[in-house]
Amino acid sequence: MPEISASSEMRGVYISTYGCQMNVNDSERMYTLLEMQNYNPVVSPEMADLIILNSCSVREKPVHKIHSEVGRYKKLKSLKPNLKIGVGGCVGQQEKKALLRDIPILDFVFGPDNIDELPQLVDELDSGERVARAKFHHQEPYQIQTLVRNPGVSTFVNITKGCDNFCTFCVVPFTRGRLRSRDDQEIVDDIKRLVDRGVKEITLLGQNVNSYSSSRGMNFSSLLRRLAKESGIERIRYTTSHPKDFDQELVDTMAEFRPQICDYIHLPVQSGNSEVLEKMNRGYTREDYLKKARMILDGLPGVSFSTDLIVGFPGETHEQYLETLSLLDEVPYESIYAFKYSPRPFTKAARWEDQVTEEEKSRRLTELIEKHRKIAFNLAKTYPGKVLNVLVESKDERHEGVVTGRSTQNKVVHFKGEDSLIGETVPVRITKAFPSTLYGDREQT
Ligand code: SAH
Ligand code: SF4
Ligand code: F3S
Repeated sequence: MPEISASSEMRGVYISTYGCQMNVNDSERMYTLLEMQNYNPVVSPEMADLIILNSCSVREKPVHKIHSEVGRYKKLKSLKPNLKIGVGGCVGQQEKKALLRDIPILDFVFGPDNIDELPQLVDELDSGERVARAKFHHQEPYQIQTLVRNPGVSTFVNITKGCDNFCTFCVVPFTRGRLRSRDDQEIVDDIKRLVDRGVKEITLLGQNVNSYSSSRGMNFSSLLRRLAKESGIERIRYTTSHPKDFDQELVDTMAEFRPQICDYIHLPVQSGNSEVLEKMNRGYTREDYLKKARMILDGLPGVSFSTDLIVGFPGETHEQYLETLSLLDEVPYESIYAFKYSPRPFTKAARWEDQVTEEEKSRRLTELIEKHRKIAFNLAKTYPGKVLNVLVESKDERHEGVVTGRSTQNKVVHFKGEDSLIGETVPVRITKAFPSTLYGDREQT
């Protein structure tokens, strides 16, 4: 744990978060660390003495987004000269000092591996110095006790950081560094502490969680078994898993601990064409992926899937793209996250000549999303009449007397119920279904 200095005056901190769940979790960590430093989270930048942009560089114009958000704070800074503005996250790591050079009103830059140094870093700012801290820490195992202000019913727990896969389109290995796994005992203790704070569900977090490997030789399946048996947590989810590392042992483990380990798998495929997959360096073919999906469905009937897809990877022909489209007929994805390929710094594919035009990428993306929309509507029709066990997470802000939770398949379900149900798992009979949301009535038992 970092050292905390004692400053008595209360100041406001505002964090603007972009990107993946890891960044959401990291922002929560920043708030917790800064709270110990007498920084109060505030809801608008106007109220802040410290503004942090927790940035993402995975797709589309990240540096441009930072310039435009920081630009909006120019006036604030002239009204409040002591206001400090910093950039953290993956763009911080990627650009380092270049951001300070290009944005004069920026006070500091730091990388995802330097979050625990934030308390000292903001202290240093008081001297008027501009600070850049974007160095990876390579120690193994890496330690990171979950820091979250109000964990609620469901929270995220990092188990790995970084990634060694070097998919040719992806910047993450360059912004998050090499793969590191947390010690399994540290994870058990961490989750036990969260259970003591009332948490019922955790999502194990990493860029490729099923490449987890502890210094004691534990793989992801053995970690799951240990957590299921020893941590006392009611539900376990995880994200993201890589198809190449998804094996029969993991299916068997999920089946053995059903429903404690939830029936939902985010299994990013990226493309339905084997040649494109090879150029992406994904480590599997279309056939391998489909085989894995069948293996999962055989071992875990009723499991629900989601995926990530990229259209317009360099050199992707129309025929190759059609194989991505047809994959949607083969795997019953409840949801998809589809993106236009965007060239990223440091990556191999960005240097390839045969880039697909923007118009073609947009056309493919629209068609893919439209096709999935229809599939999702048809899948939704299978829900009415089913009874799902829903872990209630909160009250529905828009409707009095209605609560919201998720089924083990990760479907969001709204139903009439008291606030006292928050944290309980209750059977709900589905009466109405839309692709992203289900409605139902509590089943009396
Ligand atoms: N570790 C995860 C992905 C993390 S990035 C995995 O391997 O599946 C989240 C998603 O962003 C990726 O799955 C991919 O679909 C998308 N993505 C990453 N780099 C991209 C790029 N250069 N252009 C478009 N989409 C990209
Ligand atoms: Fe990026 Fe590939 Fe690693 Fe995922 S597995 S983070 S896509 S390099
Ligand atoms: Fe973005 Fe970094 Fe996450 S690039 S998606 S914030 S790992």
